[in-house]
Amino acid sequence: MSLAVGQSVALPILDTAPQRPVFAQGPRDLASVRLLRISVTDRCNLRCIYCMPEGGVEFSDKDELLQPADFEAIARVAVGFGVTHLKLTGGEPTIRRDIIDIAERLAALRPEDLSLTTNGLQLPRLAGPLRDAGVDRLTLSIDSLRPDRYERITGGGRLDLFWRGVDAATDAGFERLKFNVVVINGVNDDEVADFAALTRDHPWTVRFIEYMPLGESQLVRPGADPSAAIVDNAVIHRRIEAVHGPLAPVERATEVGVGPANVFRLPDARGRVGFISAMSAPFCATCNRLRLTATGELRSCLFDGGEVSMLPTLRPAPDPEFIARRFAECVVLKPDTHSFRGNRAMSQLGG
Ligand code: GTP
Ligand code: 5AD
Ligand code: SF4
Repeated sequence: MSLAVGQSVALPILDTAPQRPVFAQGPRDLASVRLLRISVTDRCNLRCIYCMPEGGVEFSDKDELLQPADFEAIARVAVGFGVTHLKLTGGEPTIRRDIIDIAERLAALRPEDLSLTTNGLQLPRLAGPLRDAGVDRLTLSIDSLRPDRYERITGGGRLDLFWRGVDAATDAGFERLKFNVVVINGVNDDEVADFAALTRDHPWTVRFIEYMPLGESQLVRPGADPSAAIVDNAVIHRRIEAVHGPLAPVERATEVGVGPANVFRLPDARGRVGFISAMSAPFCATCNRLRLTATGELRSCLFDGGEVSMLPTLRPAPDPEFIARRFAECVVLKPDTHSFRGNRAMSQLGG
C-alpha cells in the first residue's frame, strides 16, 4: 500500500468486535519478560478523549486497590526471576497519595530501571520526591502543543501546568524525558512536525503512538468506526522528514528502556523521535512485558489477552512461591498476535 504524505489509513484488519487472540505458536516463557508495568490506580485527573468515555468510566473502589506492600511483594518475585525494568502507570499514578511509598519500595528492590508514565500535572509537587524515592526516569503524555486543543483532548487540562511539570522534572534531575504523543486523525496529526522540532534543542525523546482502540472511549462508540482515528506511523515519519529532513535510525541499545519504540534522530538534534506502531506493525513476537492492574490482575497482553488474579497469592499474607506460579501461568497466555480491539480501558491498564 503506498500512501501520500498527509494521507491516513483506515486499517482493514481492525475489527471493532472483540476478537480472541491466536495462541497457535504456544507458550512464552518467563525468561523473555524484562518489564513489569504496574498500574497503581485506574483513576485520573484528566479525561483524554481516546482514553475515557464522555461520562467517565466506573472506577474501582478504593478498598479494592492493591496496597504498597502488595506491589512490593509481586515486584520482588518479578525482579527475582529476571525482570530488570519496572514501570509505574495508572490511570494517573501521581494521584495516589502513597505513590512515594510505592516508588521507594520498588526502588529498594534495585531494578536496573524504575520509570513512571504520567500526564505531568502533579510534577511541580512530586518531581523532587519521586527522584528522591529512586525513580530513574519519567515519561510524560502530551498530545497537543496548543493550549485550547490540549484542553479539549484532555477534557480540561491546562498546558501551562503541563510545562510547569516539565520544568519541575528537569529541576529535579530528570533530564532525558520521554514524551508520548497519541496521534489521532483530524485531531492533532497536523502537529507532528512541531512535536519533532522539540527534539532539536532538548535531550528528549518524543514518541508518536498509533491510537489503539481499547475499551470505551470517546473515539470508540457504538456505530462509529474507531479505525478512522488511526494514522499509520509511516505517514507521520514521512511528514516529519518532509519538514525537517532525514531521520537517522538510532541504535536500539542506546535507548534507555526496553519498550517497543523505533527511535530516530533529526539532523543535529539533541533529542530523539520514536514511533510506537502497535496497529500498523504489531510487535507481539518480541513482547517482553507483563502488566499488573491496580486491583491485582496480572495481564499477559494490553489487548484481549488472558489474565490471572494475584489476589489469592496476597491474602492473608504474600506467598512468593504462589506469586511466582501465577507469573508462569500468565505468561503462557500471551497471544502470538494481539487482537485489534482490547477488552479493558487503557486507564485500567496503564498503556
Ligand atoms: P519506556 O520507553 O521505558 O518509557 O517504556 P514504554 O514505551 O513501554 O512506556 P510507556 O508507558 O511510555 O508506553 C508507551 C506506550 O506504548 C503505551 O502506552 C502503549 O501505548 C504502547 N505500548 C507499550 N507496550 C506495549 C505493548 O506491549 N503492546 C502494545 N500494543 N502497545 C504497547
Ligand atoms: N492508544 C494509544 N496510546 C494510548 N495511551 C492512552 N490511551 C491510548 C490509546 N488508546 C497512552 C497515553 C500514555 C500511555 C501510558 O498510554 O498517552 O502516554
Ligand atoms: Fe488520564 Fe492518561 Fe487516560 Fe489521559 S490518557 S485520561 S492522562 S490515564
